[in-house]
Amino acid sequence: MKPEAIKRVACVGGGVIGSSWAIQFAMRGLDVILSDINDEQLAKSRAQMHRSLDALEQFGAVTRSRREEIAGRVKLTTAMEEAVADARFIQESGPERLEIKQSILAQVEAYAPAQAIYASSTSGLLVSDIAARAAHPERCVGAHPYNPPHLIPLVELTSGDRTAPDILQTAYDFYQSIGKEAVLLRKECPGFLANRLQLALYREVQDLVMRGVCSVEDADKALVYGPGLRWAIFGHNMIMQLGNPGGLTGMVEMLGNSGDRWLADMASWTHQPDNWAQVAQPGVDQEMANFPDYVGHTNEACARYRDQMLIELLKLHRKL
Ligand SMILES: NC(=O)c1ccc[n+]([C@@H]2O[C@H](COP(=O)([O-])OP(=O)(O)OC[C@H]3O[C@@H](n4cnc5c(N)ncnc54)[C@H](O)[C@@H]3O)[C@@H](O)[C@H]2O)c1
Repeated sequence: MKPEAIKRVACVGGGVIGSSWAIQFAMRGLDVILSDINDEQLAKSRAQMHRSLDALEQFGAVTRSRREEIAGRVKLTTAMEEAVADARFIQESGPERLEIKQSILAQVEAYAPAQAIYASSTSGLLVSDIAARAAHPERCVGAHPYNPPHLIPLVELTSGDRTAPDILQTAYDFYQSIGKEAVLLRKECPGFLANRLQLALYREVQDLVMRGVCSVEDADKALVYGPGLRWAIFGHNMIMQLGNPGGLTGMVEMLGNSGDRWLADMASWTHQPDNWAQVAQPGVDQEMANFPDYVGHTNEACARYRDQMLIELLKLHRKL
């Protein structure tokens, strides 16, 4: 199946992630049908989609008429049959529990066309396990988004032991065609790519703060006004490539022994410090109090600022 054949997507599970996926697909001109277990959950999905559209409109990413067009593309239902009967692509975002994921897949397979691709948003379960009892395990892939999927382009693709390579490729092409940036894991790997990279860095943040080298606020500042600005443009390998006249090779030579000395001094523990929250919470509260007024001093204000900046960045990246 060519990705162009996918005109309608079923989003099964309309919580935090499913509602955002629905906006993502609708923004790219696809018809979406979102399903959840009852009307109460669907009302929450609808409210969340409106909040996402409010932010997109408020920060100039969509006009009022485009917003209405996007909202009009998403239908909601509690009937699985209605949700998946005509879908070529199913994005499952149900709760992160294996038995629930398996039961959702069984319900989907009862009604979906045999050629439909089934993509699970799972953050950590193995596709092989989710599809263990599936009639068509070859059509199942893992497609882990970053929250919120309608704003963060990354999607991490994984296969199960019986996923067909051409299905994974079609899923990859499909996500790319709707403006996502898909990465492919060639082997199963807990935490996938992005969360592992984040955690590796966070271990070092925790260690530096716990050793008294810097405050929570300064660790954040060092990231935001240093590497974070560059990382929003290029990945670390490219930054190395641009950092030395000899490219990445020159940079590796330049770092040489210094890099080894730093590594020898860096954190390598495999259990997160038990008292980290007690240490870090006052630090992050102080950080928020110190922000300029245009950023804000509450969680709500800072989240709004984050979303606004994210939208501006995505416009620069030509992703919105
Ligand atoms: N929250 C995140 O930051 C994040 C990020 C990436 C991936 N994920 C993954 O996305 C998935 C969903 O996470 P979430 O945070 O949106 O969870 P959530 O609890 O907000 O949403 C799950 C939704 O699934 C619904 N549901 C339960 N059974 C169902 C069924 N049989 N049919 C249809 N819907 C059903 C629930 O009512 C709920 O609305 C999980 O697998 C999670 O690991 C989450």
